Amino acid sequence: MKIAVIGTGYVGLVTGVCLAEFGHQITCMDIHEEKIVNLKKGILPIYEPGLEEVLARNYKEKRIDFTTDIKKVIKEHEVLFIAVGTPPKEDGGADLKHVLEVAAQIGQNINEYKVIVNKSTVPVGTGKKVENIIFEEINKQNKKINFDVVSNPEFLREGKAVEDFMHPDRVVIGSKKEKVVEILKEVYRVLYLNQTPFVFTNLETAEMIKYASNAFLAVKISFINEVALLCEKVGANVQDVAKAMGMDGRISSKFLHAGPGYGGSCFPKDTKALVHIGEIAEEELFVVKAAIEANEKQKIKMVKKIEKEVKEVKNKTFAILGLSFKPETDDMRDAPALTIIEELIKLGANIKAYCPQGIKEAKWRLKLYKDNIVYCDNEYECAKDTDGIILITEWNQFRGMDLKKIKNNMKDNYFFDLRNVYFQNLNIRKLFKYFGVGVL
Ligand code: UGA
Repeated sequence: MKIAVIGTGYVGLVTGVCLAEFGHQITCMDIHEEKIVNLKKGILPIYEPGLEEVLARNYKEKRIDFTTDIKKVIKEHEVLFIAVGTPPKEDGGADLKHVLEVAAQIGQNINEYKVIVNKSTVPVGTGKKVENIIFEEINKQNKKINFDVVSNPEFLREGKAVEDFMHPDRVVIGSKKEKVVEILKEVYRVLYLNQTPFVFTNLETAEMIKYASNAFLAVKISFINEVALLCEKVGANVQDVAKAMGMDGRISSKFLHAGPGYGGSCFPKDTKALVHIGEIAEEELFVVKAAIEANEKQKIKMVKKIEKEVKEVKNKTFAILGLSFKPETDDMRDAPALTIIEELIKLGANIKAYCPQGIKEAKWRLKLYKDNIVYCDNEYECAKDTDGIILITEWNQFRGMDLKKIKNNMKDNYFFDLRNVYFQNLNIRKLFKYFGVGVL
């Protein structure tokens, strides 16, 4: 079975590389020449643990190749994954430009039966749109060629994408056609044989499953974040609240960690997109809307907390530990660190920042404030001569810091632990004026 993946962003690349690891012959296609040249050399456009090794192994074994030639890819492969980006538009909706362009190309170049698998996160109804475009393009050429469109959403987490692909909680296949289901079972044969749960449903349901899952997780985070804010006011400890709540099997302990708000390329985008889908369908999604608002509030609340504790932020210097939206990624999209840094600078603070992977991206995303930010090589240099530490992302290397060494080089000793990494550390309150999120 010859499989091609169109779009070598996060999802496409992980899909292509992991399907090659499953033993398939894979071609990955992208319009960006430089990306393709680099991938052939084993240079990845993203940082994702484990991906480089799996790619190198499969490239050597000649199970994966890269190209910019979309026409050839369409003609020579039976299964075509669409994994191009769907960035948010101004109104919160997903921009389907790239997906629909690929659909048109497929329609123009299709030569025999194909299965088109949609992996990009797209609003309900997009699969049908893709189908219509391909159909129209074939019609224009007065040809009669069969094809099927299936939705197969991905649930990969950045930083754990390879692991998630190899050991998913479930695989969702949105097509009611037996033939398509059989082909997709063959694509995921390794998982199917491994007893991975498969959900077979129709196209629209598969598309909805992705949005509903992400929105629900975002709601869960916003919920616990608001509970954390309330805990601070009433003398409760959110860590214990979350722990006890999580013991209820109906709730589960996952995604109940209070923090500075969710970020990344998925939750902010997908929650807004779902609200937008609701608006179009004239069904208002109050809960998701509230989760979005609560998330914006959470980031600002972190700044307010810092302001309240240090009294005057102006001319104070803060050490930001962790810039990326979560650990094990260089991704800074919608990272809470961006808002927090920006707001502190507006209040007159100076910033020193360190992140194991996020600095490169932070430099251009925060270029407006470049004169107010000093980027450092490690956490110790970062904390030196500052008034306070603000731990924003819970990278493992921040869990075992030499706290005495950190403190001894600081001007003052505030420690804002926005991920509650140190709340149980016996020394933390002896060494620092310590503040977690929702903990005493
Ligand atoms: C998320 C989903 O978890 C994936 O299943 C999905 O495939 C992906 O979006 C997507 O749509 O492509 P990801 O954005 O990589 O994955 O990140 P998560 O690990 O889910 O974390 C998202 C944000 O929530 C981070 O900023 C994280 O710090 C925050 N978070 C997570 C919390 O603040 N508290 C928690 O308890 C959990």
